[in-house]
Formats: sequence, structure tokens, C-alpha cells
Amino acid sequence: MGGGLASHELAAAVSEAGGLGTIGILAPDSLRAELDEARRLTSRPLAINLIVPFARRGHWRVAARADVLVTHWEMRPRRRAPNVWVHTVGSAQEARAAVAAGADAVIAQGIESGGHVRGTVPALDLLERVRAAVPPGYPVLLAGGIAEAADVRAALDAGAVAAVAGTRFLASEESRAHPAYKRRLLEADETVLTELFGLAWPRAPHRVIPNRATRRWLREDPRGPAAIRALHTALSPAARRTPLAVQRKLAARARAGPLDLAPPAPTDAMPAATIETHPLYAGQTAARIHDVRPAAELVRALAP
Ligand SMILES: Cc1cc2nc3c(=O)[nH]c(=O)nc-3n(C[C@H](O)[C@H](O)[C@H](O)COP(=O)(O)O)c2cc1C
Repeated sequence: MGGGLASHELAAAVSEAGGLGTIGILAPDSLRAELDEARRLTSRPLAINLIVPFARRGHWRVAARADVLVTHWEMRPRRRAPNVWVHTVGSAQEARAAVAAGADAVIAQGIESGGHVRGTVPALDLLERVRAAVPPGYPVLLAGGIAEAADVRAALDAGAVAAVAGTRFLASEESRAHPAYKRRLLEADETVLTELFGLAWPRAPHRVIPNRATRRWLREDPRGPAAIRALHTALSPAARRTPLAVQRKLAARARAGPLDLAPPAPTDAMPAATIETHPLYAGQTAARIHDVRPAAELVRALAP
């Protein structure tokens, strides 16, 4: 979970409890500092996640120091670091491309997932398609809809080697989501798949909890008004060159106008007002999550 949501506290707690904790994308210097801090808290393996359209040379250099590199959002992936590499896919075609590029494993990410969503079908259906497309025994992980031990059991029974959970760990004590964002997650009974917060990252569906921004802009079309999506596409080359740290600062002043609808989600370092103007990423499991718990307890509760 990028942009500061999953930092060293969460990643280290998950790894220490027996999972594989993942630090989400930040500016390269911050990412390096987070990895160093996490290493101080645990000697177990740690992953770094990079969203490929935002990753620059400095990111790949830092990511190479993690035990595992997890990548997201690339149709034609390629290996950029020597460590264990896991690529997130949304179709059999993408899975085949990842295998051909030398990925060590793939994550089949279903449509119920929170955050940016690669899959267009439920995770268990995608898992079946992906497993049929990759060589026998090739490791496939499942992401989407994991909130309880029974979900993990179903994923493993269907042939996944592991389950990936985002939303469940957003509601952990260690996640750096703004406290009001965590409260919205506990109260949520629905999510929406949209392209609304697409400045710098257009045509990339993401699942969020409704807030004032979605209520204002999504009356006609859940993807967002066509004019805003066109604007995001036009501005994305420039917006993408804006460093992530600057994007986060700009976003913190946002008022949910068309030029503010950018990817950063509210962290505990952002003003409370951003709860209504920024994407509250969450998966469909939001409807089943009613408590904020320590990450280690969540890892133990998810073990089937
Ligand atoms: C708040 C949030 C932020 C996310 N950010 C990222 C990210 O930066 N990179 C990434 O690869 N996936 C990201 N995801 C997707 C997760 O990696 C994972 O695929 C997804 O959470 C699985 O579905 P679930 O939410 O039902 O557990 C994010 C998910 C959430 C909920």
C-alpha cells in the first residue's frame, strides 16, 4: 500500500509474525529509510512494492536491497533487479508475459481488491485462468477478498501458494492511514470501482470507499466524468514527472476540484479534510472488517 500507508512499522510487524511484510512506494530516499528502519525491527524477509509507471532508477536501486520485489501495473514487465521478483497480473495474458520476462511468481489480483485493480473478474476465477496459463508448479499468489482465515483457506485450496491482503491490513494499528480513514473503513458497507482519482495515473481503475469527492463527481458514471478523465490523460505526462513527494504536498491542499483528483490517499501526516477529497482505497472486504487490530494478530488470525 503505497504513498506512506504501508511503512516500516506495518511491514516489519507482518514479517515478524510470519507473513511477508511489504513497504509501499515512496520517494527513493524515504523508501531506503523505511527499509533500513524495518531491518532494525526484524531479521525476517521484507518486500518492497513498486508501481511501475512511477518507478525511477533510484526506486529500482532501493528495491534491489529488499528480499522480494513486488511490481504492479505493467503489461509488458521486465526484470530490473536481481532479487526475488513477484509481478501482479490481471489476466492470463499478463501472467504469460510475466513468466516470459523471468518473474519468479505472479499475484492474480481480482476485481474485488482495494486500491488500483488489475483484474476484471473475481480473484478465484482469475486464479483458475492464470494457473492454466503458466507452467505446472509455477507459483501463483491470490489477491482480493482476503479478510479471514476461511478466505486464505479457499485461495490455497484453489491452488494459490499464498494469499495477499491489503484492505485487512489497512485496518491495522501499524498502518499509517489517517485515523478518520480507518474509521470510514470500519463503517463502510460498499465500495466503488472508479477512474476518478486519475491525475498522473489515468485509465487505471481503483476501488474506493465513497466520500464527498465520489458523491460530487460520480453521479452519472462510476468511472468519473468523461471530461475529467480526458483531462487526466492529457495532463498525466507532466503530472507523472512531478516527484511523488511534491504530489503528496499538492494533494494535501486539495479541494476535490478536477485538478486535485490525484492518487495519494490520506495518511496520518495529511490534514483530516483530505478524507472527503482524496481516494479512500479499500476492497470489497471493507464490508466485513469491523476492527483495527495489531498486524501480528491479523497475521495469526488469517493463518488457516
Ligand atoms: C489502501 C490500498 C493501497 C494499495 N496500494 C497498492 C500499491 O501501492 N501497490 C500495489 O501493488 N498494490 C496496492 N494495493 C493493492 C494490494 O496490493 C492488493 O492487491 C489488494 O489490496 C488485495 O485486495 P484486498 O484489498 O481485498 O486485500 C493497495 C490496496 C489498498 C487497499
